[in-house]
Amino acid sequence: MRLCAPTLLCILLSLFSVDGFYRQDYWQCYYTRDLVTIEFIYSWYFNKVEYLRYNSTTDRYTGFTVYGARMAESLNLDPKNSLYYYVYTFCKDNKDKYSSNVLKKVKPEVTVRSLRSEPQSHLSMLLCSAYDYHPKGIKVSWMRDGKVVTEGVSSTEELSNGDWYYQIHSYLDYIPKPGENISCVVEHESLTRPLIQTWERPLPVDQRNKLIIGIFFLVLGIALAVAGFLYYMLGSKGHVSKQNSQDISLESTVSETNSEASAASSETSN
Ligand SMILES: *[C@@H]1O[C@H](CO)[C@@H](O)[C@H](O)[C@H]1NC(C)=O
Ligand SMILES: *[C@@H]1O[C@H](CO)[C@@H](O)[C@H](O)[C@H]1NC(C)=O
Repeated sequence: MRLCAPTLLCILLSLFSVDGFYRQDYWQCYYTRDLVTIEFIYSWYFNKVEYLRYNSTTDRYTGFTVYGARMAESLNLDPKNSLYYYVYTFCKDNKDKYSSNVLKKVKPEVTVRSLRSEPQSHLSMLLCSAYDYHPKGIKVSWMRDGKVVTEGVSSTEELSNGDWYYQIHSYLDYIPKPGENISCVVEHESLTRPLIQTWERPLPVDQRNKLIIGIFFLVLGIALAVAGFLYYMLGSKGHVSKQNSQDISLESTVSETNSEASAASSETSN
């Protein structure tokens, strides 16, 4: 190597001269899911064995072989050997470069549901939830018959899911009025216009019961109509059906006598 000028030939020669050994360095950046905390790792390898590592979290070198341990010890003595600035010059720059175009904007999933309703006070609460959106920065508001609601509104922070996504929950305390229209309005940069989710009121219990009873009688009516039709069709065959009904009455007398006999036998056994 020392004899060589830095030419292409020299590089080729040095490749051959290492005779199958090789050295490599790894630079790695670890980001927490919210991209706030960054850890920079610089690893030195020889023949696939990592012998020395710099870790920005501890701001220290660690050796994994005898040689690596000796190097780490001497490197740790002088703060000038710190590679902490890579956190900014390498990891953070890359983060800013990639995160804006790698992480797409993701639309929220919006649901509106009722949390409680107290018949005495006529006070109700609605919950509007926006799930799994990205990036952070959302606006959730309530509309009642076309007007923005300002009273009785409260909200959680934007919560990190633990992956790249966020969720938020907004509450509305209100006194219900019949026939009104309440909607949750969500504004986010992933949406070209506000997403409006209208509260779908479930049917009141007595109306639901009426509906169930109605369906029951409808099904019963259809069943009776079908049975009547079949009876009419069988009745038109005359003699055959009479024969059948006689068979049935015979069978029933036989089973009655059987049960009397078994009752008698159980008395005698006692
Ligand atoms: C860096 O050091 C921190 C603190 O000791 C540790 O939690 C983390 O796992 C280390 N990272 C690597 C890649 O060794
Ligand atoms: C309720 O209000 C929202 C927003 O004002 C509107 O988009 C929606 O069509 C309304 N729904 C009904 C049933 O009136």
